[in-house]
Amino acid sequence: MAKKIVLSIVLLLVLGAGGGFAFLVLKSPNAAAPSSIKVEATPERLERGKYLFEHVADCGGCHSPRNPEKFAAMAPPERIGSGWSFPKELGFPGVVHSANITPDKETGIGTWTDGEKIRAIREGISKDGRALFPFMPFQSFAKMSDEDLYSLVAYLNSLAPVKNRMPRTELDFPVKYLIKFAAQPVTAKVSAPDRSDKVKYGGYLVTIAGCIECHTQLEKGELVKGMEYAGGHEFPIGNYVVRSANITPDQETGLGKWSEDRFVAKFKGHVNLTYENAPRSTQANFTIMPWHAFAQMTEDDLKAIYSYLRTIQPVHNPVDVHPALAPPQS
Ligand code: HEC
Ligand code: HEC
Repeated sequence: MAKKIVLSIVLLLVLGAGGGFAFLVLKSPNAAAPSSIKVEATPERLERGKYLFEHVADCGGCHSPRNPEKFAAMAPPERIGSGWSFPKELGFPGVVHSANITPDKETGIGTWTDGEKIRAIREGISKDGRALFPFMPFQSFAKMSDEDLYSLVAYLNSLAPVKNRMPRTELDFPVKYLIKFAAQPVTAKVSAPDRSDKVKYGGYLVTIAGCIECHTQLEKGELVKGMEYAGGHEFPIGNYVVRSANITPDQETGLGKWSEDRFVAKFKGHVNLTYENAPRSTQANFTIMPWHAFAQMTEDDLKAIYSYLRTIQPVHNPVDVHPALAPPQS
């Protein structure tokens, strides 16, 4: 998206403020018509789709009302997929609401065709043709294989409908116009990744799981170059603040000294975590890392992720993950 924003700023300058403004407002997003595909729901697809939805892409992590008072800010299970209004402390350029993506006909996506769902998930265009705010990671989901995407859609169609009307996202100027440049049709077939190549398959999972987005600091809405996976991205939610950890292979400040066993065990340590038994949040344990979701990944997938993370550039960046908060002003 960065390049495209720069391009549009250049255009603004070239066309002059007036012409540039009209161009931005009138330009329609880069959208293709949705395909007419009807996804067949085989048992294999439903199983794979559930796995992707719940444990890899963690769609529920953004599309459910997360409760900051629960460990890992878990959301109540009966509200999964029904949408979330993002806390304004997160500093978005406007008010961002993820949508209700359950099949409810009035308030969810129950009347959408499969082609429209696919277009939203990987091309960033809503049913009505509006461009989606790219915090919805459609640019990463564009790398999801066609078969994985069909599995995901089959599973989405099988969710229990939840009635919950979500407000529309309202972005500030000029972001509300610039996002039109982020939408991008996917025209080529996306084939399944080769699972025998552990590093490559790990990279595929890491892309879909959005590790980089949470584990990299942002500056003006963009990931800071050279700091990929080095942590320090701050999430203030409710009464708490957490910063993401450095997960590069740096020896002192990252996962350099972590064995594969330790990595897998860290995730599997949360395998029995549920909304009901989740401990209460405190500033010392507060996190939005979806441990409950990722803990259910297969050991093979966690090992593939570990292998991939070993190959990224180590970055020395000490992070105080649970900073002490100043006592509230009275
Ligand atoms: C990092 C947060 C995040 C994740 C993860 C995420 N979404 Fe979204 N999604 C959003 C936001 C925010 C919007 C609304 C964007 C807007 O209004 O411009 C959205 C919009 C959508 C829409 C369009 C709904 C509409 O009414 O226009 C669909 C469909 C969707 N997401 C499906 C999914 C699926 C399926 C997954 C998992 C594969 C997923 N999302 C994962 C944040 C996320
Ligand atoms: C929604 C944001 C978010 C996403 C997505 C996310 N993380 Fe995290 N992660 C965090 C935060 C915040 C912490 C620090 C607090 C904690 O340990 O829970 C963290 C901590 C960790 C830790 C513990 C490191 C340590 O030193 O104890 C590991 C390992 C980790 N993440 C790996 C990953 C991997 C691998 C992915 C992708 C599969 C990922 N994370 C996706 C937010 C996220």
